[in-house]
Amino acid sequence: MPLQDRLSDAFGEAFAALGHESALGAVVENLKGDAPFQCNGAMAAAGAAKKRGEKANPREIATAVAARLSDHPLIKAIDIGGPGFLNIVPSSEALTETAQAIMEGPVSGLKAGAELTIVIDYGGANVAKPMHVGHLRSAVIGEAIKRLMRARGHTVIGDAHLGDWGLQMGHLISELESEQPGLVYFDPDYDGNYPDEPPVTMDDLGRLYPQASNAAKSDKARMERSRVATAELQAGRRGYRALLDHFIAVSVAVLKEGYGALGVEFDLWNGEMCVDPLIPGMIEDLDAQGLTREDDGALIIDVDPDYDQDKRKGTPPLMVKARTGAVLYATTDLATLIDRKREIDPDLLLYVVDQRQANHFEQVFRAAARAGWFERDQMEHLGFGTMNGKDGKPFKTRDGGVLRLEDLLETMRQAAEARLAESGMGAGFDDEERADIARLVGLAALKFADLQNARLTNYVFDPERFTAFEGKTGPYLLYAAVRIKSILRKAEAAGAEFGPVSPDHEDEASLVLALDAYPKAVALAAEKRAPHILCDHVYGLAQTFSRFYTHCPILADDVSPEVKGARLSLAKATLEQLEHGLDILGIEVPERM
Ligand code: ARG
Repeated sequence: MPLQDRLSDAFGEAFAALGHESALGAVVENLKGDAPFQCNGAMAAAGAAKKRGEKANPREIATAVAARLSDHPLIKAIDIGGPGFLNIVPSSEALTETAQAIMEGPVSGLKAGAELTIVIDYGGANVAKPMHVGHLRSAVIGEAIKRLMRARGHTVIGDAHLGDWGLQMGHLISELESEQPGLVYFDPDYDGNYPDEPPVTMDDLGRLYPQASNAAKSDKARMERSRVATAELQAGRRGYRALLDHFIAVSVAVLKEGYGALGVEFDLWNGEMCVDPLIPGMIEDLDAQGLTREDDGALIIDVDPDYDQDKRKGTPPLMVKARTGAVLYATTDLATLIDRKREIDPDLLLYVVDQRQANHFEQVFRAAARAGWFERDQMEHLGFGTMNGKDGKPFKTRDGGVLRLEDLLETMRQAAEARLAESGMGAGFDDEERADIARLVGLAALKFADLQNARLTNYVFDPERFTAFEGKTGPYLLYAAVRIKSILRKAEAAGAEFGPVSPDHEDEASLVLALDAYPKAVALAAEKRAPHILCDHVYGLAQTFSRFYTHCPILADDVSPEVKGARLSLAKATLEQLEHGLDILGIEVPERM
């Protein structure tokens, strides 16, 4: 148990013994001042006592609590400040015990009480459409939340939920037909097998899609052809289905590579269309439950009793089927919920998708809750803000296009390479290792810059700032970890051994307490679905280590073997926790830099 929790228990008992709520004993980190912890319950205790009509003075309550705990083995001193703040200095015994627990490794104490089965829907790239920045953020944040939940002991299934079921397919099919009308896929009378080889490459898809969608913008007849192709595809036209399968296979191969380069891995690559066969039955179920109604030819579900057609307040109804009979994005998301219920039966479903889709998810979740498939609070949309360009608008490439993942990664790699050269790092390494380090530094820079913000915050893409080795950046953290690796290597070469830790120096004590805060940071980050809380922890830990290392030499000759052994153990524990935390964030540390 973290020291903070053990202290909370002790203070809780003291408050209870004095006739107050034990919850008032909650001990928190003290960010200012010399005492590392504080308890602020005395003020609230006095308030509650006054409400009961008793006379109470917070300072007197604090004094009484402190008196009860003066001999407590975990406590060295309690100082009472201001109106009744209890500032707590832990005993060296407490610090030694805490250090021992930390030596068990970073994984101990991370597990949540209950093990849940969780589906996390993230990535969300679309077949044949270029990725936009929203997909990048979803991948990076989703991967971190997936790993966070796994670190807590939950079973987590990540689904890329590929977008493959809308007008974009109609665009592709009809555009391909214009270019190559002779392909067997377009012959309505053909009833043989279709070729295994795809008729298109990714480059073809990347060309066909914008060609079609641009043409359809100004040409009504062209748009109609895409609409008809979409409808026929959804109605099950064989040749079109075969084409779609090819488009998906070609796209998935490329996407897997791209996400792989980003260090993002999915367990499932289910596309929106996987659930298509479930849709008719689903609509019947919704009808039978009396949840649907017709509106201007479309089929809708009311999801908000306060929704007002004219004044537009509340959450508007969800459209299950358009007037044309086409199913929509929300329809596939609803059917996907049924699929996930049947196949996985999760306790919790997390959707890491751009905040601009918040209304969509609110509608879908409410409809699913009305239908009784899940409780409303089993489904969470975890939105995020945009990554902007220097102009403050969602990031675009220099020619105004959407981002290609490989270009983004290359930009980051080059920025990292420049930084490494500038600081003289890796100068003696061979080209291959240097290139690999630049790749890892670039990735760490990008991911940490993204994850350190609260999810909903927008931020500006700035490779230069992201790759700096000073400040709250990915490269700073990589450097901190690599430096410890180098210390450990040197110590090993010199024959030094690890030893037990009993923190004497105040910077040793601070490091022990910083390490001890890890399980809390992981738990809070998981609970709030907030990777930035973990970013704060690893950054704080790296800083605390740096202060420790400045004041507590390890390798110097005049350090006794006991002190050296203890400090080496602390260095090793710090490295393990840093690497563990960074791994949750999806950040890989090189061996050296
Ligand atoms: N493909 C969608 C897009 O590009 C994102 C999918 C998000 N997930 C979901 N279940 N709707 O906007």
